[in-house]
Amino acid sequence: MKDIVILGIESSCDETAAAVVKNGREVLSSVVNSQIEIHKQYGGVVPEIASRNHVHNIDKVVAEALQQANVTAKDLDFVAVTYGAGLVGALLVGVSFAKAFCQANDIPLIKVNHIEGHICANYITHKDLRPPFTCLLASGGHTAIVDVESYTDYTVLKTTIDDACGEAFDKVARTLGLCYPGGVQIDKLAQSGKENIEFKSVVMKDGNFSYSGLKTGVINYLHNLDQKGEAANKCDVAKSFTVAAVCGVVDEAVNIAKSHKKLCVAGGVGANSYLREYAQKQCEKYGIQLYLPQLKYCGDNAAMIASQGYFLSQAGKDLADFRLNACPTLSLKTK
Ligand code: KG4
Ligand code: ZN
Repeated sequence: MKDIVILGIESSCDETAAAVVKNGREVLSSVVNSQIEIHKQYGGVVPEIASRNHVHNIDKVVAEALQQANVTAKDLDFVAVTYGAGLVGALLVGVSFAKAFCQANDIPLIKVNHIEGHICANYITHKDLRPPFTCLLASGGHTAIVDVESYTDYTVLKTTIDDACGEAFDKVARTLGLCYPGGVQIDKLAQSGKENIEFKSVVMKDGNFSYSGLKTGVINYLHNLDQKGEAANKCDVAKSFTVAAVCGVVDEAVNIAKSHKKLCVAGGVGANSYLREYAQKQCEKYGIQLYLPQLKYCGDNAAMIASQGYFLSQAGKDLADFRLNACPTLSLKTK
C-alpha cells in the first residue's frame, strides 16, 4: 500500500505546531513553538496575544517541520488542520494558513477536532493500539471519558459540568502563588507532599464530574489558615488536591474500561506523574491494559492532528475546502 504523508497544523491555544506524520503513526517531524514564556507574565493565556504570535510564527514552524521531515509540499498527500475547539483567533491562524497552503500547492485539506487529536497521540506512541477502547481525556479545556468505537467514531460517556481538570490545576496553582501553567508546578510540589487534607470528590452521583467545588475547597482551606496566621504546607496542599482531582476520574474510567479491557489516557494532564502512577496501579488490579502517551505528545502538538487526519482520510471523512471556518465550541458526540 502507498505511504500516506500528512502535514498537521495546530494553533488552538498557545502552541504553534506543525508535524509530518507517515501512515498515521510514524512521526517524521514534530515542531512545537510554545508561547508559555510570553503568557506567563499575565498569569494565563491572553487570546489576542496568542493570535498575534501564531501569525508571527506559523510559516516558520511549518517550514521547519517540512525541512526536518525532509519533504516538500509535493510529497504531501493531505494537510490536516485543527479547526476547533479552542480560541477563535488562534484557530483562525492555523485554518487560514492551511487553506492557503493547500490552495497554492493543490493538496486536499482535512479538518480535525482537537479533542480527537489528543486521543490519537496514543496511536503514535503505541503502534499496536487499535480501537475499541476507553479513553480518559484530561486537558486544560476538556475532561471526559470517551468511548473510542473506531479510529473516527467517538462518544463522550462522562464529562465535567464546569471546569476542566487542567483548568482546576492551573487555578489552584495560581492560588498557591505558582506561575502559569500551574499543572506541572503542582505535579512537582506534590511529589514531596503528603495526602493529609480531605478535599471534596469531583465525581458526582451520575458519574459526571464537577471541579468547581474542589477548587473552592482549596481556596477556603488556604483562606482559613491565612486568617489564623498560619502558613500552608504547599506540598501537602498540592498532593491532597492532586489525589482529589485525579483518583475519582481515574476510578470512573477504569470502571468503564472493564468492558474493553483497554484504557488510554490523553491530554495535558495525562503528563501528571501521580495520574500515570495511579492509573497503572488501578488498571493492573483489574487486568486492564493501560496506554499512556509519551510526555511530549500529552500537551498540544501537531503530530496528533496529522494522525487523526490520516484515519479520517482513510475513512473518507471530513475533507474540507476553502469555506472551512474555525469552530471554537466544537465538541464530541455525547451519549
Ligand atoms: O492538552 P493541553 O496541552 O491543552 C488543552 O487542550 O487544553 O493541556 C494543558 C493543561 C494545562 O491546564 C496544564 O496545567 C495541564 O494540562 N498540565 C498538567 C501537567 N502538565 C500539563 N497538569 C497536571 N500535571 C502535569 N504534569
Ligand atoms: Zn489540547
